[in-house]
Amino acid sequence: MFDADEFIEEQIAELKKVEGKAVVGCSGGVDSTVSTSIFGKAIGDRLLAIYVDTGYMRKGETEMMDDYFKEMKINHRIIHAKEEFYEAMKGVIDPEEKRKTIGNKFIEVFEREAKKFGADYLVQGTIAPDWIESGDEVRETIKSHHNVGGLPEKMDLELIEPLRDLYKDEVRVLARKLNVPSAEKQPFPGPGLSIRVMGEATPERTEIVREACAITEEEIDNAVEDGLMERPWQYFAVLIPIKTVGVQGDKRAYGYTIAIRAVSSLDAMSARFSHIPLEILENISTRITNVMKDKVNRVVYDITNKPPGTIEWE
Ligand code: XMP
Repeated sequence: MFDADEFIEEQIAELKKVEGKAVVGCSGGVDSTVSTSIFGKAIGDRLLAIYVDTGYMRKGETEMMDDYFKEMKINHRIIHAKEEFYEAMKGVIDPEEKRKTIGNKFIEVFEREAKKFGADYLVQGTIAPDWIESGDEVRETIKSHHNVGGLPEKMDLELIEPLRDLYKDEVRVLARKLNVPSAEKQPFPGPGLSIRVMGEATPERTEIVREACAITEEEIDNAVEDGLMERPWQYFAVLIPIKTVGVQGDKRAYGYTIAIRAVSSLDAMSARFSHIPLEILENISTRITNVMKDKVNRVVYDITNKPPGTIEWE
């Protein structure tokens, strides 16, 4: 049985031994935020939390994280870098290439800030499934998760991964103990919305999927609060950049398709699609096609388990 208090105590004692300064890339996900919280408790202002707005963040995420850091008095910097990321992602369509491009850009932006701060260490919120699925001599690479690999070789920083041996449910227990606001938040991949736009993640398509993800989350959150369904492990929208014919009002429309994905899982290694009440799916579909009338005219629900599908589409 995982003992959160003991883990936190041991980690803080261990991390207190760290001399010098550390930086952490805190994207708002529960893993990085828990790492930031534990490390901040251990070394205070010698830690700098760097939040990079890559342009592929969820709706409202940047503002929320800024407020959180301020409230928790965590030494932090918000970097607005979306133009740089969009430029780098021009013409990139392969999923692994997207991860690499975002990863490299992230390193570049992050390194700039880390240097300014004079950091010696890099803290990462890597958890067990990240490195297990990224190969690491255990299994063949399925997807190279962006918060693993690359960074230490390219940067002159020593890597610290306080959550490396933990699974998501354990991190959530920690998050509750540490009053991390994202405790109940679903996992969000490092490459962000870029892997939820199939093919090229242009600013226009990303804006659509950002809105569709926000609507999906909101409708499902409301349904969970009203006791209409259980909270899935992860729930989001992806954009299929193929246009289909529809009608909007009395006009022929030609717009993108949005696919809704919601899965139950214990550790993301395997997953089952959620049996969401059809009324909830209908609410999501209606809202998405109303809010983005001229852009989306079709919404479908993904009924694939993992395996054979993965949770994300790319
Ligand atoms: P898949 O899609 O492989 O996802 O079934 C398993 C879990 O990992 C997340 N995921 C990622 N997380 N970088 C991350 O940090 C990535 O590149 C990445 N790809 C997938 C996914 O959201 C799910 O929770």
